[in-house]
Amino acid sequence: MERGRRKGRGMRTAPLFLVLVFLFMPVAAEERSDAGNVDVGGGGEEEAFDKRFLKLWTDGGGGDEEDHLRWYGDDDEYDDDVEEEENGDAIMLGSARCPRPTKKKKRNVVRVDDFGAAGDGCADDTEAFAKAWEKACSLKDAVFVVTANRRYKVGPIRFMGPCKERLVILIHGTIVAPEEPSEWDPKSPRLWLLFGGLVGARIQGGGVIDGSGSKWWANSCKIDKSKPCKAAPTAVTIDSCSGVRVRSLHIQNAQQMHLTVSRSRAVRLDKLAITAPGDSPNTDGIHVAESTAVTITSCRIGTGDDCISISNASFAVKMRGIVCDPGHGISIGSLGQGGSYAAVEGVSLDNARIARAQNGVRIKTWQGGAGYVRNVRFSNVLVDDVDHPIIIDQFYCDQRTPCANRSTNVQVSNVVYRNITGTSRRAEAIKFACSDAVPCSDIVLSNINLLREDGSEVQTVCNCAMGFDYEPVRPAAHCLRNSECGGEEPKALPLH
Ligand SMILES: *[C@@H]1O[C@H](CO)[C@@H](O)[C@H](O)[C@H]1NC(C)=O
Ligand SMILES: *[C@@H]1O[C@H](CO)[C@@H](O)[C@H](O)[C@H]1NC(C)=O
Ligand SMILES: *[C@@H]1O[C@H](CO)[C@@H](O)[C@H](O)[C@H]1NC(C)=O
Repeated sequence: MERGRRKGRGMRTAPLFLVLVFLFMPVAAEERSDAGNVDVGGGGEEEAFDKRFLKLWTDGGGGDEEDHLRWYGDDDEYDDDVEEEENGDAIMLGSARCPRPTKKKKRNVVRVDDFGAAGDGCADDTEAFAKAWEKACSLKDAVFVVTANRRYKVGPIRFMGPCKERLVILIHGTIVAPEEPSEWDPKSPRLWLLFGGLVGARIQGGGVIDGSGSKWWANSCKIDKSKPCKAAPTAVTIDSCSGVRVRSLHIQNAQQMHLTVSRSRAVRLDKLAITAPGDSPNTDGIHVAESTAVTITSCRIGTGDDCISISNASFAVKMRGIVCDPGHGISIGSLGQGGSYAAVEGVSLDNARIARAQNGVRIKTWQGGAGYVRNVRFSNVLVDDVDHPIIIDQFYCDQRTPCANRSTNVQVSNVVYRNITGTSRRAEAIKFACSDAVPCSDIVLSNINLLREDGSEVQTVCNCAMGFDYEPVRPAAHCLRNSECGGEEPKALPLH
């Protein structure tokens, strides 16, 4: 289906009405009849706009995502009861929803303690974890148990699948990383706890995963400019997995990123608390890369970098009920570094509070890249004391030498912002800095209300950003309708 459009520069100066009629005619023609049942009010030009807006709004989110979200083996039979009933050598499981007494299952409990883990916070328990994992992975209906009220020091370790069906990893106690970067296994520079190649496993239990990151942070080139820039380990990595759920855990003080989901499908992250000091470098909360159908719900994140970042080759990523305080906000990108190709499609954020952050919702791309970011929805977001609540930055440059403008970039299109309210630290509360080479298109703002802390007005600035402001939008964003390229000040639109 052809929804995209190419808009010549001359068109932007045409009377608004003609532009609207031209743009909406093909869209209105293909509107499904049930869309007419939605009462969006208005008439004529307004109605056409409403329909287009509605279409932009409802079409996004990545096509057949419901299929992706159908869980691998998600029969609800080995979920929620595990935590309560984990007690003794076997666990009886029943359905949480309705009594089905004939369908109880015996669980095979594998405790790290039974494999020699000390759990005293001093002894190295890596070996015991590895042995326990080997056992748990080989048994059907296994529960790998990290005991409550104990502290297990564990070095870099790989929990690799495939394992037998219905594995549950129950972390009740604390897993803590060794503190000394100089003693870190050089064979695992970027990984601490890796879960790889798992299908349908659960990782849960209310426990703590602590990266002991403070010495790593002190070594970061962002903190100590005399140090070379070297990657530090990610605390938890979910790689090449499908149907994995991570829930009810506290991940803190990661060496670098806290939780990465890469090369995976149908992963759910739920009820996670992720914390690190606001000045810890590159400590992203959740990072999604090369993954499809990732849902992130009910998470509280406060770190020194992006609360959630979504990078290359990620599709159908849904976020709901997110608190980000403090941090750098919720980001798509950065994409297109070093002339690379990147694709991100179907991202939605619904119901979030972003406070004491550099950005609210951000899309960032480097000059010179290629590919696209499209079909993105940010809705129902409360911002509080945020530098740039809404930002698209196609001039992103996170390196010591300045970045030149190039003739290519990642194309940003069909990005909808709806119901975003709160306070901005800067006057430029809404910033669409799109590239001259590849302008942003179909940028839609609706129901926006942003002010300075002291109640004074803020601004929208546009460079090469085409789209609509769907009132009420405060600060006014008429620049979307006649955005100039080349970094010039946008012209004021005559009042209508
Ligand atoms: C981004 O993902 C695409 C596959 O969709 C791949 O071809 C490309 O190499 C990736 N880019 C980078 C920088 O990894
Ligand atoms: C707008 O978003 C806020 C923050 O999530 C929410 O509390 C409020 O109910 C939303 N308003 C509407 C009309 O959806
Ligand atoms: C790159 O382009 C932008 C927008 O046209 C302009 O504001 C900026 O000054 C340019 N930067 C460089 C280094 O030329």
